[in-house]
Amino acid sequence: MGDDALWVASLAERARGLLPEPVADYIDQGARDGISTAEAAAAWRRLRLRPHVLRDTRVVDPSVTVLGRALDVPLGVAPTTLQRAVHPDGECAVASAVAEVGGLLVVSSNAGTPFADIGATGVRWWVQSYLPADRALALPLLARAVDAGAEAVVLTLDTPVVGTKYARPGVPVVWDVVDPALLRVNFDAGYAEAPGSEKALDLGPGDITWLGRTTGLPVVVKGVLRGDDAVRCVEAGAAAVWVSNHGGRQLDRAVATTGALPEVVAAVDGRAEVYVDGGVRTGLDVATALALGASTAFAGRPVLHALAVSGAGGVRRWWQEMALQTVEALRLCGAATVADTRDLVAPDGLASL
Ligand SMILES: Cc1cc2nc3c(=O)[nH]c(=O)nc-3n(C[C@H](O)[C@H](O)[C@H](O)COP(=O)(O)O)c2cc1C
Repeated sequence: MGDDALWVASLAERARGLLPEPVADYIDQGARDGISTAEAAAAWRRLRLRPHVLRDTRVVDPSVTVLGRALDVPLGVAPTTLQRAVHPDGECAVASAVAEVGGLLVVSSNAGTPFADIGATGVRWWVQSYLPADRALALPLLARAVDAGAEAVVLTLDTPVVGTKYARPGVPVVWDVVDPALLRVNFDAGYAEAPGSEKALDLGPGDITWLGRTTGLPVVVKGVLRGDDAVRCVEAGAAAVWVSNHGGRQLDRAVATTGALPEVVAAVDGRAEVYVDGGVRTGLDVATALALGASTAFAGRPVLHALAVSGAGGVRRWWQEMALQTVEALRLCGAATVADTRDLVAPDGLASL
């Protein structure tokens, strides 16, 4: 392995050595027994590819179009909370790295950095949102995101309540030790105490339509694992469906996203874009996501690990290595473009899941 490939492969371990234990545990943990978290990366590795030969791959172009704009490499940064507890520069470091490489960033609604500062880096970014019981309470934060240049709103659907996670004996829960100033700075003061600010338990397709109309932005729905639900989202106006089990942090024993992706792609049938995350760790994983019909893959924990290890430079190095690996994977598959990847996954590779 090259130096950068080895470095990327070692990020999780390096980050754990550097971060306070409660923060490291917060990043790496899954809900309950951690079954879905543990099997995510392995699920990509179980799939097998059928490469083409006799294809001209002098030029390999991994670019895709996502919500009407080109993305040079089909890899985005998924929204994650607590980036400022991982590194003092937090969201700004991630945003400036992603801006520099021309990537795509999704910013958590729980971010610890004002959206205006993130937008000022020039990064292409989308805002992630959880809708509260009283939907109107979400509006000030969404307005701040629109003002700061968010190009889409990502509505996370898999979190009616936050999935229970267990603390390791002797390690404090991060929320008991973290400075509250490091998160949720884009909400109005007093938001958490406002009646109706708890997460909505009654989200429906109408919320997708409402969110699009209210913000004027395309709506991406995150956390869909079934074809029938994907269809309901698309019919309500979702511009994209993001196949995710929240990195295994919500419903433990939720299916791996590799298993759900083909069903969602088939059900959506080209009417919306489809994205995927969960255990994407290498360029081969990205290529496999494309082969299964995703427009782009996203990664969560690797970005936090890279941020912990080397700040903005770490995030940039991670992204650049992932980009190189993706191009190599496409070339070895005889795929000069993303369109050439769609038939690469061996059917029995899927069936064995
Ligand atoms: C520490 C951490 C915090 C997260 N916070 C959010 C969040 O605020 N909003 C959200 O929609 N997803 C959140 N996620 C889920 C990610 O967006 C993404 O779905 C998941 O991390 C992908 O799996 P991966 O970490 O294996 O790449 C979080 C994930 C992690 C690891």
